Amino acid sequence: MTSEKNSFYITTPIFYVNDAPHIGHAYTEVAADVLARWHRARGEDSFLLLGTDEHGEKILRTATANNSTAQAWTDRLVHDAWLPLLETIDIDNQDFIRTTEDRHKSNVQRFIQKLYDDGFIYQGAFKGAYCVGCEEYKNKSDLVAGTGDYQGQEVCAIHSKPVEELEENNYFFRLSQFQQPLLDHYKQNPDFISPESARNEVVSFVSRGLDDLSISRSKEKFDWGIDIPWDNSHITYVWFDALLNYVTAIGYGEDEAKFRKYWPANVQVVGKDILRFHAVIWPAMLMAAGLPLPGQIFGHGWLLVGGEKMSKSKLTGIAPNQITDGFGSDAFRYYFMKAVNFGQDGSFSWEDLSARYQAELANGFGNLASRTIAMVKRYFDGVIPSAGEYSASDKKLIAVAASASSKANEAIDRTAITEAIISVWTLVDELNNYITTEEPWVLAKDESNRDRLATVLYCASEGLRALTVLLSPVMPKATAKLWAALTAGTLGDLAEQNISEAGSWGQLANPTVGDLDALFPRIESKDE
Ligand code: ME8
Ligand code: MG
Repeated sequence: MTSEKNSFYITTPIFYVNDAPHIGHAYTEVAADVLARWHRARGEDSFLLLGTDEHGEKILRTATANNSTAQAWTDRLVHDAWLPLLETIDIDNQDFIRTTEDRHKSNVQRFIQKLYDDGFIYQGAFKGAYCVGCEEYKNKSDLVAGTGDYQGQEVCAIHSKPVEELEENNYFFRLSQFQQPLLDHYKQNPDFISPESARNEVVSFVSRGLDDLSISRSKEKFDWGIDIPWDNSHITYVWFDALLNYVTAIGYGEDEAKFRKYWPANVQVVGKDILRFHAVIWPAMLMAAGLPLPGQIFGHGWLLVGGEKMSKSKLTGIAPNQITDGFGSDAFRYYFMKAVNFGQDGSFSWEDLSARYQAELANGFGNLASRTIAMVKRYFDGVIPSAGEYSASDKKLIAVAASASSKANEAIDRTAITEAIISVWTLVDELNNYITTEEPWVLAKDESNRDRLATVLYCASEGLRALTVLLSPVMPKATAKLWAALTAGTLGDLAEQNISEAGSWGQLANPTVGDLDALFPRIESKDE
């Protein structure tokens, strides 16, 4: 998303802490982190927000079932599972908000009070179905026939469990009033909801009409939430509370300068399960408050297990460290961003992960890096030589580096992460191809080829430089090691390189390369 301001504000959903994270949550965080790092590598003030959604009936029931209070339960899970995940998958976030923090609670109240004062909230009678798993009010059309234990009952299509009938006197948000303004916004901003499948789904949903939304729950039922400021017999509906994290974290109601600096968010990444909350309710809340809307809501696909969405509630989750313990965080990040086309569903398999690790990372990229450095050491005492005149094949390599960089940068502007990596990989393939064709080890046998050998190794090293910069948002650890070995401090830190300029040729001077351990070592296959 382009914007006048030099900041790039990106968010993920704040996850329910009813249980520990699985690779689906890690997937969203990695995608947002890759985008945030990419924009930071363009010199933008990139701000990645993550957090946890801690109120509501689902969390309270889970805590109670585990003989804990809701606060103690969330404290424990946040500290033992959700914060350590960031280390596990190498996330560089600028903030982490918990909805139980005062900075959130007080400004949620401020926001709701404003909407109430401005006439967007009224009291009414609610009667209908509620799924605690989704924390969502359900229509008849959202339900499906149950199976097994629930044969003969209607159940939530997502959680496969019966819904609960609610009859309460609640506060309502005038969501229905925003049908036309939302449709107008979708029309005027065709990228607001991405990818296109997500946009189509939301447009047709909103076109069918919107009901007002119950935004409070009576404390007679449970009280784990934020008090409605003018009526402390009610707490705020957990989604109304949770969505506001995106503004309370950057100073809404409290730090006007910071808020203006980052809001509106450039991209808000969510799974498609919660697209409607983000593409319908959230923008309507912002419109009611007179605040600008985010640049884009991107609804990514699901990681599937046996054809179904991997989920905490169905206990089908794989813990991220089951993968990173053996393969490392870089391979985790690369694998999910490359193997699952961002925006579509994908199935994880250990076979696919191992095969890509070996073929693409160890043989494709890692080996290219070690070979190039080793040849500079062997033939030029470790000093990257200067290039002489460029041949046609050198010029082709130079052109591939330029186009890989410009295409990848352009794909990132469309939040097309997988496409960006595929573009970068054209440079991996071209470099391998170049080395195979130029055969530097053959050139080295004859002193009269010395100039040509210098040019070839310069070109291979310079291509590797471009590649290192372009892969840094995806694989921060391996690229940092390679950068240190390849540039030996002569070009400044990897973090200082402008990724938009990665493809401009001729940046390496004549550094003395350092040692480089295998970037993607062979993995001892363990019997699963
Ligand atoms: O919905 N594949 O939290 P949640 C891909 N608290 N992504 C997945 C996934 C899968 N199988 N499973 C989960 C909530 N995710 C609310 C959000 S935001 C104001 C409040 C990811 O813990 C994906 O990002 O149920 C999905 O949207 C999110 O986890 C749901 O997390
Ligand atoms: Mg969920």
